[in-house]
Amino acid sequence: MTHNVAIFASGSGSNAENIVKAFRNDKEIDVRIVLTNRQNAGVVQRMSDLGIECVYVPNDTWATQPEQILQLLARNNISIIALAGFLRLIHADIIKNYRGRIVNIHPSLLPAYGGKGMYGHHVHEAVIANHERHSGATVHIVTEKMDDGDIIMQGKVEITPDDTPASLEAKVHAVEYEIYPQAIKKLTQSLYPSNG
Ligand code: GRF
Repeated sequence: MTHNVAIFASGSGSNAENIVKAFRNDKEIDVRIVLTNRQNAGVVQRMSDLGIECVYVPNDTWATQPEQILQLLARNNISIIALAGFLRLIHADIIKNYRGRIVNIHPSLLPAYGGKGMYGHHVHEAVIANHERHSGATVHIVTEKMDDGDIIMQGKVEITPDDTPASLEAKVHAVEYEIYPQAIKKLTQSLYPSNG
């Protein structure tokens, strides 16, 4: 059985690229489509280079016409959604239709440094300002509450005295590339156990 994955991304798209590459030769997971709310996001060029369809969906549609997005997902037989730097809350109707099947990656060890305002460089700045010894990344299920659902996987990084928010971000990105594909695989295996 093939599980079709859609990725939602707003930014550079390095995680999206990493996920596409990780599953290129996978018999069970097929990254079918990427949706973005930013026409000029880096992810658009990355997907074009990889030959993956990337659809621009304006902010207004995300906010008021979730049925259009659900139709697009249904047409592509999507079973799992992976958020990769997607800077919008997901409409409740989409969450309801994909309950337990939407995952997000957050650049901290949740529940620490999650919630409102905690995204991108803000997270790494706060972690460095608090002189933490460790940080990391968390893959979790998306619910109606921000950064709140069950945790599927975490990866930890050590913070050294010379680390800056930028160097910490690079370390966290590296761990994200390791754990996100693994977490997606783990989710498909728990949702759709193989009979063989
Ligand atoms: C990642 O750090 C991820 O944890 C967060 O947004 C960032 C996306 O980076 N949710 P990229 O666009 O995948 O490079």
